[in-house]
Amino acid sequence: MDQLQSLRGMVDLLPDQTNRWQAVEAEARNHFLKARVLEIRTPLLEATDLFARGIGENTDVVGKEMYTFLDRGQRSCTLRPEGTASVVRAAIQKGMLTNGKHRLWYNGPMFRYERPQAGRQRQFHQLGVEFFGWSSSLVDAEAIALAWSLLKTLGINKLVLQINTLGDSTDREKYRSTLINWLEKNFENLDKDSQKRLHTNPLRILDTKIPATQELLKEAPKLLDSISESSQSRFKDVQDALAALMIPFSINPNLVRGLDYYGHTAFEIISTQLGAQSTLCGGGRYDGLVEKLGGPSTPAIGWAIGMERLMLVLAAEANANPIGKAASLITEKKPDIYLINQGELAEKISLKIAVNLRQEGLVVDLDSSGGSFAKQFKRADRSHASWALIIGDDEAIKGKGRLKNLRGHSAQKSQSPIEKIVSLDNYISIVDQVRN
Ligand code: HAM
Repeated sequence: MDQLQSLRGMVDLLPDQTNRWQAVEAEARNHFLKARVLEIRTPLLEATDLFARGIGENTDVVGKEMYTFLDRGQRSCTLRPEGTASVVRAAIQKGMLTNGKHRLWYNGPMFRYERPQAGRQRQFHQLGVEFFGWSSSLVDAEAIALAWSLLKTLGINKLVLQINTLGDSTDREKYRSTLINWLEKNFENLDKDSQKRLHTNPLRILDTKIPATQELLKEAPKLLDSISESSQSRFKDVQDALAALMIPFSINPNLVRGLDYYGHTAFEIISTQLGAQSTLCGGGRYDGLVEKLGGPSTPAIGWAIGMERLMLVLAAEANANPIGKAASLITEKKPDIYLINQGELAEKISLKIAVNLRQEGLVVDLDSSGGSFAKQFKRADRSHASWALIIGDDEAIKGKGRLKNLRGHSAQKSQSPIEKIVSLDNYISIVDQVRN
């Protein structure tokens, strides 16, 4: 029979990876806790209309990339391609937005039918935040700082923060017609994709990856020149706030983002350690979205980090600096003690000891192979446990075991390792020795 395979772009995370993910997720949770950002979990499946209305019919995400199907009740459903629309839907539905301001975070799988490559999958994970209720430019800086400082806490260097302003809706409407005018005059020199986008989503042409179009666009009218004085001054305030926080940034006038809901601040954090898919974090302000989805007018800003890209960057960072924070985060946690045992009675006692030592808080690796002492010792060494407790049937009958310090053993091969006889029913004494 044919072996079943996962679908293209859908990736398994095996234990050596989930260990690393958990370490990063724990850092992120702690980071959010300190900023009083609270977690929200929303369903993976939503009504298709949420994304069509929220993200925009003419975006690539909605037009080409959604996993959409009819359920058994003939309702059109979509696996969420991003988190923002779902969080806005939940916040409106649960009446959260008539009830104060909120700082929220989420982490989970998203689905986009894209061409898979390094850093791009069809099921991927986003760690994101959404702030509801604040319109101040200082909150834009706070949201950006939250992403920036999280990445720094994780030990990531070589990051570039790019920011732009998309102005308000009047600014964008004005710019849209100016840009269309210019693009029509240069139609013949545009690539095919940009020609198609001209009347559906002309602003997206600005962040084309096609070098010839990029070159041509250097001559195009700039969004920054079309935006009102108040939008300009708001953008200046965001820049001043970032400068005051000592967060380095550059202005990228072509940064428009791929989703339609943004206005004013848009930003991306790019890692020079990623290849073509170099955007680690993307976000911006979306003051109109809540109202558009049927909620009360609510200013909002947020961002999302791609977890797979984050893990790629961490691995590169750990490689470059094996004693740095990134390396320590993704290094597998070692057991405190490895239980080597042989013989029927020894096996029974070892299981009991393992359960009790775990109860006392130790990380215990129990060898349940029944194999030779030599093989179990090899495995203990490979596990990088600090200690081994060796129990044979003779020792088990006497209620004694040998506690051996493996770190001393491997660090100073010439010296005989520290070894002590311990009483097997005195768990606390074993714990004390392992901890000291
Ligand atoms: P986005 O730029 O579409 O924004 O995605 C954010 C991040 O998700 C990207 O920078 C990237 O790291 C990761 N990502 C996106 N697509 C893929 C993929 N196919 N494979 C792997 N990683 C991917 C949003 O989704 C917005 N909802 C962000 C936001 C939150 N804006 C405001 N609030």
